[in-house]
Order: sequence, then structure tokens, then C-alpha cells
Amino acid sequence: MMGYDRSVSAADHELGPETVWHLQMPQLRFGRNAVAELGFQLSDLGVDADEDPHGLVVTDETLVDVGHVDRVTDHLEDAGYDVTVWDGVEREPSIENVDSCIEFVRANEGADGYDFYVGFGGGSCLDVAKATRAVIANGGEVLDYIAEPTGEGEPLTESGPPLVLMPTTAGTGSEISPVAIFSVEEKNIKEGISSNHVRADAAVLDPTFTTTLPADLTGKVAMDALGHAIEGYTTHSFDGLLRASNPQERPVYAGRTELTEMFSEKAISLLSSNIRTAVHNGDDIEARAAMLKGALFGAIAGLTAGASLCHAMAYPVGNRYHTYHGETIAVLTPASTLGYNAASDPERFAEVAEMLGADTDGLSTREAADRAKEEYIRLQQDLNVIPSGLNELAGVTEEDVDWLASQTVETQQRLLRCNPRPVTEEDAADIFRDALYNWEP
Ligand SMILES: [Fe+2]
Repeated sequence: MMGYDRSVSAADHELGPETVWHLQMPQLRFGRNAVAELGFQLSDLGVDADEDPHGLVVTDETLVDVGHVDRVTDHLEDAGYDVTVWDGVEREPSIENVDSCIEFVRANEGADGYDFYVGFGGGSCLDVAKATRAVIANGGEVLDYIAEPTGEGEPLTESGPPLVLMPTTAGTGSEISPVAIFSVEEKNIKEGISSNHVRADAAVLDPTFTTTLPADLTGKVAMDALGHAIEGYTTHSFDGLLRASNPQERPVYAGRTELTEMFSEKAISLLSSNIRTAVHNGDDIEARAAMLKGALFGAIAGLTAGASLCHAMAYPVGNRYHTYHGETIAVLTPASTLGYNAASDPERFAEVAEMLGADTDGLSTREAADRAKEEYIRLQQDLNVIPSGLNELAGVTEEDVDWLASQTVETQQRLLRCNPRPVTEEDAADIFRDALYNWEP
């Protein structure tokens, strides 16, 4: 059992174990053709179609080109909602990208902005929608709300008008999370706005929008989802962390609970048993629905309990090499979550191995724990869309390892505090080295 000397928060805490946990979620609506209930969802959030509300759909060009955005706006217009589409979201968006969305809102609707917002797309689109609504509602610019020293670290006090998010990829979990992440180009880092005011009011998850996602992206974003589920299952228990001095100070990553563990378990089995079909036969709507549900459950677990070491290591890699978040998580998970961390609680990792489908009969607990890593690597090899390691992903070599390790330890304490095993810079370097080649390319 962990000592009570650890906290996932730099905020005030009392010298005793946490005794309370809390779960905050948007309203959730899930299923085939759930998009048809988008109008109802908005009216349920208090947006009255009779009052002529004007909303903004935040999305990207690809989703416009494949016709998905038309499907969304048609449903909204049929329900009596007037909408404008802003399709300027970029992959792994920068702060400038959010600024241009905010400028668009102010130019069209003035300082008060739109009456409602719909974020539609992958995690990038959802994050831009979340940050845009937050900045419009609180005034100023994005950097005002990014943590110091990059930004001003001002707290958000307003949530703003209703925001509904519709993910079109089964992965990031942004639809339920209280965080929006952006790259800060001049500093080569990623920073986030993290607050319950950033969280959406509702998420509408419709698997029919996910069938057009190409095989390689399907596999990569699924690895992010699986990472959330496994990291959430293996992080500290909430009562192994220090007690928040008041409910306001309780961190958003507050440790695992029985509730998050149930979601992790279901997520790991849904994702690992459907991902091969979703990647190799993208039109299989049953597999796509299972993946979207698995990603949602993984996010409910992991983004509440807390992502850990693997996510901490992924940010410096993504910043320097401009790799996708999901593929970065994919190549780092074997060495970090399932390698280094397995020693922290072999019994728990043996359970993960079984959830991933490994046969652990007759093995010692420690051997069974190691099966989790082997099973996960086998899964990646079967998908045939995941790089064999950091080297194949971005040409990372032995020479880059020390820089990546120092960046991880210097900039990612928020996530490292959640890790079930303490990590020094030397440890991080060893783990990066281990992740250069997960298998012979
Ligand atoms: Fe993630």
C-alpha cells in the first residue's frame, strides 16, 4: 500500500488519506444514429429553438469533405437551430489555431459569442471547441488560462453556454474530460487548460460517424484509449493520495476508485477484443460501436483516476517529432505502463494480462504480469499499422534519449505524480531506450 505522502495535486492538502471521491460527467447519449437526438439534447440543456439561437459547429475540413458535417447541421436545422460551421481545426492544434476560432466567433457574434457550441471530430476538434467556449465565456485569450510560466494561470470562473461534443474517433476521451491540450510552437511543448468549466455539458456518441476513419488512425487512436484504461486501472487508489483541503482543491486526476476500475475492466476487454476487426474491417458497425464505447469507458476510468507515466513521456515526443498522440502512446506503452510500472503491483498487472486476453494459467504472478506486455505487443503486430518502436515512429535514437528524459521529468510532474512507481530522470532514459524497438522492425 502506498504511503500517504503523495499527492497528484500541487494544491493544498491535509496530512491524511483522501476519504472522498467524486465523479463529474457530461450527459451521455450513445448509439447508432444518436445524432438524430442532438436537437433534443440542446433543448434539454436549455437552448430553446423558439428563441432563434445561433450555434457554432467546430470541426475540420476532412469531416466536411466526407459529408459528416452536413449530416450534423441537417439534424440541427431540422430541429430549428441556426448554425454556422468553422472547419479550421488543425491536427494536434496550436494555441494560434484556437485563437483563430475565437477571433472568428468575436468577429461574427461579438464578445458574447454564440448561444451554443458543438464540437465535432477527433480530439483536436473537441479540444478547440472546449477552449473556444471557455475563453469566450471568461474573456481574454487562451494564454490567460494556460498554467504558468507559459501562460498566466488565471482560473476559469464561467462555463459559458451549452457545449455538446460528438467524437468521430474512438480514442482521446476528450468528450468527457476537463482538459483541452494545445501545442505551444515557439517552446516546442504542449500545454493544457484544465478545469471543470472546460468540460462539455453533453456528449453524443454515434458510431456511424466512425466507420470512415482509415485503418491506421483507427489503430493509433485505439491505443490511446487502451492506454487510458490501463493507466487508470494501475494508478494509485484515491485513498492512497493526500486529502484535498476542500472539494475545490481536489485534483481532476484523483486516483482510481471501484467505479473507475469497473470502467477500466470493461474498456480493456471491449477494446482489445474488437480492435482487430475495427482496423481490418472498418465497415463493421458492431466492432466500431464496441470501440467507441470502449474508448468512452476508458476515458471515464483513466481521465478520472489519472493517466500516468506513458502520457507524461508522450508529450515531449509529440512536441519534438510532431507525432500523433495515439501512435506515441502506442509505442511507449510496452516499456512504460506494462514494463517499468508492472513491478509496482504484479497482481494488478496479471489481471490486466487476463483482460487483454493472455493465457496466464500455471504462471507465477510476476510471470503473468509480464504477459500483459507480451500480449499488448502481439496485438500491435496483428494490427499492422503501429510502428515497432520510437525509432520507426520518428527516427529516435540512443542520442535523443537523455533529452527526452529530462523534458519528461522537468515538464510533466502533473502526470508523474500519478505514477504508481517513482520515476527519476535516469529511469525515464532507460524506459525511452527500451521503447526504441518493441520488436524487430
Ligand atoms: Fe491520451
